[in-house]
Amino acid sequence: MTPDLMEQGTRRLQARQDKDMQADGSGGRSAAFARVATPGEVDVTHGRILYLEDVSVSFDGFKAINSLSLDIAPGELRCIIGPNGAGKTTMMDIITGKTRPDAGTVFFGSTIDLLRHKEAEIAQMGIGRKFQKPTVFEQLTVFENLELALKTDKGVKASMFFRLDSAQGDRLAEVLHTIHLADSVQRLAGTLSHGQKQWLEIGMLLMQEPELLMLDEPIAGMSARERELTADLLKRICKNRSMIVIEHDMAFVAQIASKVTVMHQGKILAEGSMDEVQNNPQVIDVYLGH
Ligand SMILES: Nc1ncnc2c1ncn2[C@@H]1O[C@H](COP(=O)(O)OP(=O)(O)OP(=O)(O)O)[C@@H](O)[C@H]1O
Ligand SMILES: [Mg+2]
Repeated sequence: MTPDLMEQGTRRLQARQDKDMQADGSGGRSAAFARVATPGEVDVTHGRILYLEDVSVSFDGFKAINSLSLDIAPGELRCIIGPNGAGKTTMMDIITGKTRPDAGTVFFGSTIDLLRHKEAEIAQMGIGRKFQKPTVFEQLTVFENLELALKTDKGVKASMFFRLDSAQGDRLAEVLHTIHLADSVQRLAGTLSHGQKQWLEIGMLLMQEPELLMLDEPIAGMSARERELTADLLKRICKNRSMIVIEHDMAFVAQIASKVTVMHQGKILAEGSMDEVQNNPQVIDVYLGH
């Protein structure tokens, strides 16, 4: 796609956003919630997009996850905090099919049993995951990285002849703005700052329009300014989807979370607003190491 087409895309996007605003509340989040479940689509009519019950996994006899239960509502931005080794990343590994639990139930919506699916299938169903270390293609431009995100599951031949259609072009333009990289379309990803690479990777996930986005320590290594912009970015992208964010930085968590879950020794120690968990004596104990 040429910069001309990109500009057209941006203009179409702006027109659509203006129209949405005039429509006063229609579209966006409320529309997503009101959607009637159809086969192959995640069914959130029971008010949960993700549901874990009594999940356990051991590594060489060590219980990394120990009877863990968790509920995530559609549109929620849940932050998971907890000391090193609490099992936060392992929990994401279980949701995404990278690790199989020894016991328990893991559902995406009320109909999709994630334990019956492979990692690649789970990603295709609409669960996007970002690991801590950015994994962008450094030799490709920002644009090419985003374009590539749409090609992932196609064969080599299909990828070679891949062309963005107009809806995909619009989406790419929208994502570029969202991730603050609209001015860097033709830059090689390798020349971006660490924070910008993290945003680009989030952008690559957004290209696939995940219903649930999971980020593991997204602001690690970022400057103060990049952290601020990331908080703003995450709050914006969660308008259309649910998110789980693992993060150690409490100030950041306080800024973005609608609800906080504290994990400790493979279990949930506390859950609630940032204020509630911060004043919970058990949480204080764990963090102060008594
Ligand atoms: N594949 C594995 N094999 C063996 N042990 C593992 C494996 N994955 C995780 N563990 C262990 O499980 C425990 C939980 O690890 P996990 O990475 O989930 O913690 P975490 O909460 O993400 O910690 P951190 O904040 O340091 O990232 C740790 O003791 C870790 O060593
Ligand atoms: Mg971790």
